[in-house]
Amino acid sequence: MEIFLASANLDEIKKAYSLPIAGVLTNSSIIKKEEMKLTELVKGIDEIGNLPFGLQIVATEEHQMMEETRLFHSMLHHRVLHLKIPYCPDAFKIIPNLQHTNMVLNLTGVSSLAQACIALESGIDYLSIYIGRVTNAGGDGVRLLKNIKQFADYNRKPTRILAASIRNIDHLEEVALAGADAVAIPYPLLLESMESEVTQQSITGFKKDWQAIDMG
Ligand code: G3P
Repeated sequence: MEIFLASANLDEIKKAYSLPIAGVLTNSSIIKKEEMKLTELVKGIDEIGNLPFGLQIVATEEHQMMEETRLFHSMLHHRVLHLKIPYCPDAFKIIPNLQHTNMVLNLTGVSSLAQACIALESGIDYLSIYIGRVTNAGGDGVRLLKNIKQFADYNRKPTRILAASIRNIDHLEEVALAGADAVAIPYPLLLESMESEVTQQSITGFKKDWQAIDMG
């Protein structure tokens, strides 16, 4: 299961760079929080290393969607660009034109199996399922992901099913067991995923015992 960092914070990206992450994914809300120019963000990421990076289109009309795509591509042509495309009818107009480029296409904001059934026919690279937002709206985000993954597998669709809008460790573990091909998680959750009191106590105990050994 690929792990993407959902962040536009340069400090977090720098710290996560040495971890086995597949890339960094953002959206306008994530970037806005950082209060920095997009060009500065891209420059900062370039200085960190060569990670795949995701930007999200906000337009929902074909012409504007293509304009935003061209802008993102011109800013990030030197690295793998994950183009996040909002789920809307015009998304299916631009996808065929972008499929033979060097961009990775990610249709995002999926919140129902019906949406996924249509989207999987487009041959999109990634489908992002909004676990937390679906659950907050009274649905069951994890079950939705499980159903979409099962449907995609039954129908031999190559699209990778990405769990986005992950709120906590339970979500993360549940989508992992549900067969998610990828997840996008914020930095604090990435850190929390690696923590365990049992592991920590074991490390402390082994260190202590090592110090008590007579090295001869
Ligand atoms: O792409 C962002 C998506 O993951 C939404 O996440 O946490 O704002 O619901 P969140």
